Amino acid sequence: MKKSLKRIMVLVCFMLYINSYAQMERDYSKFTITGKYSIPKAPAWCQNAVFYQIYPQTYYDTNADGIGDLKGIIEKLDYIKSLGVTAIWLNPFYESPFRDAGYDISDYYKVAPRYGTTEDAKNLFSMAKAKGIRIIVDFVPGHTSIDHPWFKASADPKANPYSNWYIWTNCTWFKGMDKYKSDFIQGYCNRDGNYMTNFFWHQPALNYGWGNPDPAHPWQLPVNHPDVMNLREELKKIMRHWLDMGASGFRIDMAGSLVKNDPDQKIKEFWLEVRKMLDTEYPEAFIVSEWSYPINAMNAGFHADFFHWFGGFNDLCQRETKRNQFSEGHSFFDQEGKGNITNFLNNFYYHYNDTKDKGYISIPIGNHDLIRINNSGRTVNDLEIISAFLLTMPGVPFIYYGDEIGMRQLDIKECKEGAYYTRAGARTPMQWDKTPNLGFSKSDASKLYFPVDAAADAPNVAEENNDPNSLLNKTRKLIQIRSTEKSLSAYAEFVPVFAQENQYPFIYVRAADKERILVVLNPANQGKKTKIDLSINPKKMKLLAGNGIKISMEGKETIVSSDPVSYAIFKYTE
Ligand code: NOJ
Ligand code: CA
Repeated sequence: MKKSLKRIMVLVCFMLYINSYAQMERDYSKFTITGKYSIPKAPAWCQNAVFYQIYPQTYYDTNADGIGDLKGIIEKLDYIKSLGVTAIWLNPFYESPFRDAGYDISDYYKVAPRYGTTEDAKNLFSMAKAKGIRIIVDFVPGHTSIDHPWFKASADPKANPYSNWYIWTNCTWFKGMDKYKSDFIQGYCNRDGNYMTNFFWHQPALNYGWGNPDPAHPWQLPVNHPDVMNLREELKKIMRHWLDMGASGFRIDMAGSLVKNDPDQKIKEFWLEVRKMLDTEYPEAFIVSEWSYPINAMNAGFHADFFHWFGGFNDLCQRETKRNQFSEGHSFFDQEGKGNITNFLNNFYYHYNDTKDKGYISIPIGNHDLIRINNSGRTVNDLEIISAFLLTMPGVPFIYYGDEIGMRQLDIKECKEGAYYTRAGARTPMQWDKTPNLGFSKSDASKLYFPVDAAADAPNVAEENNDPNSLLNKTRKLIQIRSTEKSLSAYAEFVPVFAQENQYPFIYVRAADKERILVVLNPANQGKKTKIDLSINPKKMKLLAGNGIKISMEGKETIVSSDPVSYAIFKYTE
């Protein structure tokens, strides 16, 4: 993981450097709110959608084998519906040897037996849809498992239709070009050559060709090589298969890195072809990429892109202590008040401005790769402010299972299925109630996929359901506001009103036609008085959620007074 992540990071750093001039210029205190927007071409259902991400192995186990299953998700559909979410992103459930938790597929067309059957998948899609919930599934086009029959055939020294489906050098004693050297696994089989990996060593890269093939290395195929084209057709066939089964789209793993050495973004051609197929054959299908560069993702035809791994992202709510060059080690959403919202906003706004008419940015504040937002003692108030942020920003929001009840990042030292260190601690079983295994499974605790939170006060659904002030019920309310207010829809205008380096609060407006929403976020443990250049009649402000924020006029000036650790969502008309 480190190598490819490092490469992506170096690339992103370079791009950020190029963009930095445009970004530095921006002064968020000078703004105009127009209420104008144009709706990106995307299935109508996603414009107001709130997604819920489900990690199948740790959601709910119905047959007491210690691993969650598809029937478990079916059993919990009423709960999911009660959240107010309208869509689910389901992590991989395909047949796999599970060296990377299912992101190492050995059969794209089959459900892994530990999760159930094809019939279960069909039922899940249709029963969810009957409740108004669409399901998008994870699609991993960049690599397979080494156990996939295509790879086994490809590793055969005898030429066959799969020989070129993976990237092999033509001599075992040559690893690749110097700069790709480390990504080649040497001496794997009798085939005279080494294969290129995409992520872990057991995830050989499928061959989408090379943007700039080096003539000195004929094994670097061009993107339009017939074998590459055959692979591309097969990938489209897999997508059709799941859409026909009832899925409503895909979250696409590492979508930007399929073509190797690709300065001209030739990969776009493939995704635009996919988009064309969806537009004509499955116009209701939604595709969101894990590209992390929205400008490129939208130009490649994606409806949305998850935006992480960039400068300022870790300073938003991940709170990774200076783990990489992207972090100053302080989160904006911490009470210590040392965060810097502009680290995030400058990059976000740069992409938002360029893509707002084309597609949506999804801000992944939690997922199976990230540290849970409830870590190192965050309070329910802190978490509610983060949810308010997620659910009032433009784009399509995704909530990671368990974050709605404030599940904690656990300190799990075990490396399971590639979920080492921090990834493991964010993948523990959903906490349903106070019964053994916190209601996740009836199996013996020793058989659980991961241990459950052992703390006496581990948050759980049953208790929070009964408490009107619980994070669960507050999140439900925020989701409901998000889904009903036009000016909070994915496409409504986003205008930062107060966002300054190392300062709190963060204030922004969302606008659609004449409707306006003003959001004030002050996660810092210190009261603030902020002058903003927005003329509004405080009497016309209707508080939709939050408290501790007062808007007043001092002479002609509009003043926002924020209590420590407070937020508010106001609705007003001009
Ligand atoms: C990104 C996925 O989110 C992660 O969990 C996985 O390990 C890699 N891609 C490889 O597929
Ligand atoms: Ca099970």
